[in-house]
Amino acid sequence: LKFDCVSNDGIDQHMVWLIGLKNIFGRQLPNMPKEYIVRLVMDRSHKSVMVIRRNQVVGGITYRPYVSQKFGEIAFCAITADEQVKGYGTRLMNHLKQYARDADGLTHFLTYADNNAVGYFIKQGFTKEIHLEKDRWQGYIKDYDGGILMECKIDPKLPYID
Ligand code: ACO
Repeated sequence: LKFDCVSNDGIDQHMVWLIGLKNIFGRQLPNMPKEYIVRLVMDRSHKSVMVIRRNQVVGGITYRPYVSQKFGEIAFCAITADEQVKGYGTRLMNHLKQYARDADGLTHFLTYADNNAVGYFIKQGFTKEIHLEKDRWQGYIKDYDGGILMECKIDPKLPYID
């Protein structure tokens, strides 16, 4: 089992994984238009942290780092159906936090969480109260009324992964 952060950089293996992840999002996020999922997963300003087992994608999180603003927007997050509630979602989020802090220099995440995923995000340290100053994120993330805006502060020192 491994966790990797990849983007659309033309490397064959990365493309295969991104397509696998796009297919998981398509199935697990039925309210999201498929073209929108493909566009963001393949967009070069987005990155995807993935869980890979036996060279197969089990799930992942696609996010856009706004490095100048020091926050990231989580666009999609899902684990494939038969592997949910086994702890992969938690491990994935911990890898994302560690990577976004150490490689991108981010301090916060924002996401529009689906109603049924709010419980998962709360367990990952997200809150419905937004503490991040509005001028750091306004105009960067678009309003989306199919979800609840949630925030997570990334601890500056905590080791999130072993
Ligand atoms: N609601 C409430 N609690 C949840 C949910 C949920 N939907 N899913 C998991 N949890 C809880 C688990 O019970 C567990 O609690 P525990 O630590 O007390 O045992 C904890 O959250 C972590 O569970 P994991 O096993 O790590 O979570 P999992 O691997 O299943 O991943 C995920 C969670 C990503 C939400 C997965 O269930 C999934 O893909 N669901 C369908 C797609 C989805 O809803 N994605 C999020 C949409 S919002 C967005 O993409 C921005």
